[in-house]
Amino acid sequence: MSDDEPDRVIHADNLDVLPTLPDGRFTLVYLDPPFNTGRAQTRQALRHVRQGATDAAADAASVDPAPMRSTVTGFAGRRYERIRGDLMRYDDRFDDYWAFLEPRLAEAWRLLADDGTLYLHLDYREAHYAKVLLDALFGRECFLNELIWAYDYGAKSKRRWPTKHDTILVYVKDPDAYWFDSTSVDREPYMAPGLVTPEKAARGKLPTDVWWHTIVSPTGREKTGYPTQKPEGVLRRIVQASSRPGDWVLDAFAGSGTTGAVARELGRRFVLVDEHAEAVEVMRRRFGDAAGIRFEP
Ligand SMILES: C[S@@+](CC[C@H](N)C(=O)[O-])C[C@H]1O[C@@H](n2cnc3c(N)ncnc32)[C@H](O)[C@@H]1O
Repeated sequence: MSDDEPDRVIHADNLDVLPTLPDGRFTLVYLDPPFNTGRAQTRQALRHVRQGATDAAADAASVDPAPMRSTVTGFAGRRYERIRGDLMRYDDRFDDYWAFLEPRLAEAWRLLADDGTLYLHLDYREAHYAKVLLDALFGRECFLNELIWAYDYGAKSKRRWPTKHDTILVYVKDPDAYWFDSTSVDREPYMAPGLVTPEKAARGKLPTDVWWHTIVSPTGREKTGYPTQKPEGVLRRIVQASSRPGDWVLDAFAGSGTTGAVARELGRRFVLVDEHAEAVEVMRRRFGDAAGIRFEP
């Protein structure tokens, strides 16, 4: 995949596509997987890894169909296997989900450049388990951040604190080499602008690991109609901080193509994958007849 090739939107199961992409090609991998993957899909995914993976992927992820006995070697090993076993015994609802995700994460790790970063977008039902497992998979020293995207929209429970946030776990391939440029990131207003100088107030402050950002407005410019569409403002910060112009960005659960839209605006290259025809249709409409994008097949 050379720099003169077009950006790509691929209609396929990402587990069929990821093994065909070259090692270390992506500075940024953003994954926003669905939560309800379901058992049938999980079993299919496991079969794919066993039969379809390249040698490199097979090295990185050798997954046994019985999840409790799964092993991932190459970037994890026995410690990961033990933690995984404990977690799955503790909550078997998470079992299917993780079995679906694990081979894709192994691929993401292989595809990351040495200075690359993974952003894994999760909801509160899975984030804590996923963090423990990712610590074991990538190595604790590769954990960079737990981002909280907080929004305030929709119905509110009166029986508990309404849950109005997503978690984005950030892991780097190499803690000594990763790319992170906070100076390129869109800044935000100070909460108490009267407490800082007018110059500082005008410049805004660097975002922290808690991002207040509205969901995609049902009437706004960004809206594509795709149900799980994420706001460009959230993706923009990620792309600005963790890639440079010209770098390749991968989104293997692309949905409406938010990552691609932002990557294009910021001069990054992209590969987007989604298995649903509706998502690809939305991306066709979103990118219009923009030059330099290849839709496959
Ligand atoms: C939460 S949505 C992503 C939304 C996206 N971030 C956006 O801003 O529009 C998850 C997407 O993953 C896709 N998906 C689920 N399983 C997949 C698979 N095995 N391969 C490729 N895409 C998959 C779904 O079709 C869905 O569009």
